[in-house]
Amino acid sequence: MNANELKKSVAIAALDYIYPGTIIGVGTGSTVSYFIKALSSVKNLVHGAVSSSRSSTFFLKKYGIPVYNLNDIKSLTLYIDSADEINFKLQMIKGGGAALTKEKIIASVAKTFICIVDESKLVKVLGKFPLPIEIIPMSVSYILSELIKLGGNPKVRKNIVTENGNIIIDVYNFKILNPIGIEEKINSLPGVVSVGLFATRTANIALVSTQSGIQIIKS
Ligand code: A5P
Repeated sequence: MNANELKKSVAIAALDYIYPGTIIGVGTGSTVSYFIKALSSVKNLVHGAVSSSRSSTFFLKKYGIPVYNLNDIKSLTLYIDSADEINFKLQMIKGGGAALTKEKIIASVAKTFICIVDESKLVKVLGKFPLPIEIIPMSVSYILSELIKLGGNPKVRKNIVTENGNIIIDVYNFKILNPIGIEEKINSLPGVVSVGLFATRTANIALVSTQSGIQIIKS
């Protein structure tokens, strides 16, 4: 299977975890696009979805899946999203698609987070993928200097304004040996809206698409 086929197969595998008739949280990205398409192929499986980005909202609506505002629902049992990297503790780097803040909010509300990835995303140590951080524009110089002190090589992502009107810094060459500590440290910097390190709120289940089938990892 090629990369897209691996993404498609793990997206389809996630359908088995949906309790029929519920509202689910839906992430962002190419793997999630396959998931939304798979979801639309099973008529009325979900009552609707809470979306983490404009692009996912667009796809959900295109496939006739009602989209709800997170503030209008009482609870959320399930969130399904992918990741840019995931380790064996199910801690993740997310935000390659710049939707990290809404993704983190929905992940925090949801009771269960199922992460759907292909095997290329599974790593021992997080950090090969540049760590995205959403920041308030006036804090950029300060935060760049603080991130250098933490040992990373931060760069402002070019030509992007997030859906919340902010900018993204990507931290390169950042071997994350203490994910919870790094998440807390970056979160504490004034001007940081959110960091794409999901170390405290991990996934509960990872479905990993491999050449020999779907590997299931539970936290
Ligand atoms: C979006 O902001 C990200 O967190 C995505 O979930 C992540 O980048 C995975 O995307 P792909 O499925 O496109 O690799």
